[in-house]
Amino acid sequence: MRLITEVITKLLCSKKLMILRSFVSGSNATTVHSTKPTPCGLGEEKGCKWPQKGGFIGQMNFAITSLFLLLFCTSLQAAPMEIDSVAVRYDRGNLSILDQQKLPAEEEWIDVETTEQMVEIIRSLKVRGAPLIGVSAALSLSQLAERGESREAIQQAAVQLKNARPTAVNLAACIEWILAAMEQQSDFRQAVIETAAEIFHEDVDLCERMGKAGADLIEPGERILTICNTGSLATAGLGTALGVIKTAHLLGKNIHVYACETRPLLQGGRLTAWELEQSGIPYTLICDSMAATLMREGKIDRVLVGADRIAANGDFANKIGTYSLAVLAHHHKIPFHVVAPYTTIDPACPSGDFIVIEQRKPDEVRGAAGSFGKVIWSPANAPVYNPAFDVTPAELVSSFILDAGSLDHASFLSLTQQ
Ligand code: MRU
Repeated sequence: MRLITEVITKLLCSKKLMILRSFVSGSNATTVHSTKPTPCGLGEEKGCKWPQKGGFIGQMNFAITSLFLLLFCTSLQAAPMEIDSVAVRYDRGNLSILDQQKLPAEEEWIDVETTEQMVEIIRSLKVRGAPLIGVSAALSLSQLAERGESREAIQQAAVQLKNARPTAVNLAACIEWILAAMEQQSDFRQAVIETAAEIFHEDVDLCERMGKAGADLIEPGERILTICNTGSLATAGLGTALGVIKTAHLLGKNIHVYACETRPLLQGGRLTAWELEQSGIPYTLICDSMAATLMREGKIDRVLVGADRIAANGDFANKIGTYSLAVLAHHHKIPFHVVAPYTTIDPACPSGDFIVIEQRKPDEVRGAAGSFGKVIWSPANAPVYNPAFDVTPAELVSSFILDAGSLDHASFLSLTQQ
């Protein structure tokens, strides 16, 4: 009995015991539960005040109480972080990604087991969108930490993930954030797990802030044009440009969305259309080349787009076709806004000229691939130009809708040049 009592006392006094801290997001798209470890607080290794001596009854009472406390604390430790978002699920080191290549025909979840697999998932756009690739890479590192991988193994995986796609700054920034946390905290694995949870949770919050800031600008009955997918399939929360649209809809603004199909990979036709239907938002799908005619006919009141990287001068990279929309909006005097969290701003990048643009495979332009299979409609070896993104100059932006609010160009510059 004495031995059991001592073992339990030792365990109860261990600094490794954790208490539960849950975060529950208010977003209708996402629910997050995460746990941050703190010392148990029941006693310290040194100077522990738990009774060491006493009669048999006293020791029995103590042992039973201790056993209950131990079981309680152990159950808390067993549920460290649970994420259940539209596109990503994570629970105790089990990571699953919704395969966006197969949407909307199939809703298939992929269980992620290795870093190589995660890199392939990011490169093939099974998971995509600037904030969400950063979040997914962070969760992939958290998985390695939960599996007890070494510091060196996690650092190597971080390099592989960081190089998966070049244009979106969020991917590199999330990896750097985790690597820095590993250096700052004594328990490097716990640092990775905690930081990944923080990254996820923060993105949910940033989406809500952008949503509110952008929805304030929208007048009842507006017809809004957007490109690519910038919603819950591109972020941990409601989205960026699509988050503003969803918030305006929830506020009863009676909006109508025109969604560009977004060739070559059809993120608008497949993913934005799917999300708009899920949210019950009235919309019309168009081919990218139809935007000019709609504007000329007076049918577009505002353009909202996302960003993959915003340079310090306000130039920004986003899905190919965004620049054309900005030029068209300027010509037709239609407000054009970029919606992004502060995590998409790269103050170290002076202008759009310095943003590396990802070049993708020719077959994406020669035809199309998806749940329907693969089709090639051009001559088999047709020469192809296929940049995934373009750069829009800052002077074409009416306002930058950030988590901090809607800023004109001058206010944006004062923010990045602080
Ligand atoms: O190639 P993708 O699908 O990852 O491109 C995504 C975009 O261009 C989005 O507009 C951008 O990441 C902002 S999403 C919140």
